[in-house]
Amino acid sequence: MKRNILLLTAVTSFLLFSCKNKEEMTEVQVPSATAKDSIPAKGDPKSVVANQGAFQMKGLNYGYNDLEPYMDGQTVETHYGKHHLGYCNKLNDAVKGTPLETMSIEEILKGMDLKNSALRNNAGGYYNHNIFWEILGPKAGGRPTGKVAELINKDFGSFDQFKTQFSDAAKGVFGSGWVWLVYQNDGTLKITTSINQDNPLMPNSEVKGYPLMNIDVWEHAYYLKYKNERPKYIENFWQLVDWSKVEYRLSLIK
Ligand SMILES: [Fe+2]
Repeated sequence: MKRNILLLTAVTSFLLFSCKNKEEMTEVQVPSATAKDSIPAKGDPKSVVANQGAFQMKGLNYGYNDLEPYMDGQTVETHYGKHHLGYCNKLNDAVKGTPLETMSIEEILKGMDLKNSALRNNAGGYYNHNIFWEILGPKAGGRPTGKVAELINKDFGSFDQFKTQFSDAAKGVFGSGWVWLVYQNDGTLKITTSINQDNPLMPNSEVKGYPLMNIDVWEHAYYLKYKNERPKYIENFWQLVDWSKVEYRLSLIK
C-alpha cells in the first residue's frame, strides 16, 4: 500500500511538472542529435554543363559528398553546380561575339578592363573556382612535400608559419573574397588577398604572379554548414588541400 502511494505521488508530480512547464517546453528548441550533420548531395558533378560558349566547366575529381566531413555535399553541389556554373555561363555571355572568345582565360584576366564589371566578376569567378576545386580533394591535407615545401620553408620560415599567415589572411578578408598563395616572378612565394572575384592575374593586383592555391571566403563557400563561423571553415579547409595538386601547378610554371 505504502509502495502504491509513493508511486502515485511520483506520477502525479511528473504530470504536474509536465503541465506546469508545457508552455516553456513547446517554445524551447531542443537541438537534435543530427542538427549539425550534413545534408548529402544527390546530384552528379558530371551533369553540370555550361551553356554553349567559349568556356566549359572542368568537372570535379571527386563526388559532391567526398569532401565530408570538412565540406558538406550540399555546399559543394550548390557551390559548383549553381555558383560556379553561373559564372561560367555569364562569362560566355560576356565574351560572345568579341575577340575575347578565342583568348585563354588567363589572357582575358591579365588584360582585364576593370571597368567592365560583367567580364571582371564572371571571368574571375570562373577562374578562381577552377583553382579552388582543383587543389581540394578527399583523403588530402597534411603537409606539402617537394618543391612547394622547400619554397614555403624558405619564404615563410616553416609550414606552420605559412598556415597561420594564410589562415589569418582568410579570417581578415572583409566581406567576400579570396586568399592566394602566389608564385611571384622573382621565384618567391607570397600570400595575398582579393576582393569579390578579383585575382592575382588582374592588373589591379598588388601581388602579381602565378596562383598556386586559394581559398574561397565568400559565405556561399561555407554558410550552410558553418553559418557565420568562418574560422572553423578555414581550419577544416587544411584537411582538404591536396598538396600534390599545388605541386603540379608549380610544375606548370615555365
Ligand atoms: Fe565561391
